[in-house]
Amino acid sequence: MNHKPVTRILVLNGPNLGRLGSREPEVYGSGNLADLEALLVESVPPGIEIDLRQTNDEGELIDWLHEAVDSATPVVLNPAAFTHYSYGLRDAAALVTKAGLPLIEVHISNPHTREEFRHDSVISGVATGVIAGFGFDSYRLGVDQILRARS
Ligand code: DQA
Repeated sequence: MNHKPVTRILVLNGPNLGRLGSREPEVYGSGNLADLEALLVESVPPGIEIDLRQTNDEGELIDWLHEAVDSATPVVLNPAAFTHYSYGLRDAAALVTKAGLPLIEVHISNPHTREEFRHDSVISGVATGVIAGFGFDSYRLGVDQILRARS
């Protein structure tokens, strides 16, 4: 395992998550990405940087995972719809965990209670762990776990 002290956590978000707040609030809640960032920043001890990003572009998300490997930075990842079919993203996620870095897959909703196509994740098999169904707290739990495991 890579035991460099954690100073930064990448919190990466896939497609359509930039629309949080207005996108299906009955499923994803009324908070937007800025609210999520504020919640996470508030929840971490001083000296830990939350680097929250969102993209609709699969290649950009893959590049960010490569960056995580190169900078030895732990990752909380909500792959959004890419969860269900992106083998490219899966291979990039595997690079992170194979490098000994934690990668926690998170979902705001519980995909298993939803449409059938959401029941499969191609990411889970290479993730360190999976947290789903707790709204924005799924991210908070993921960040907490990274800090607990690394302290
Ligand atoms: C999601 C669940 C996915 O099925 C969906 O495509 C998303 C968000 C979640 O956070 O619950 O965009 O990852």
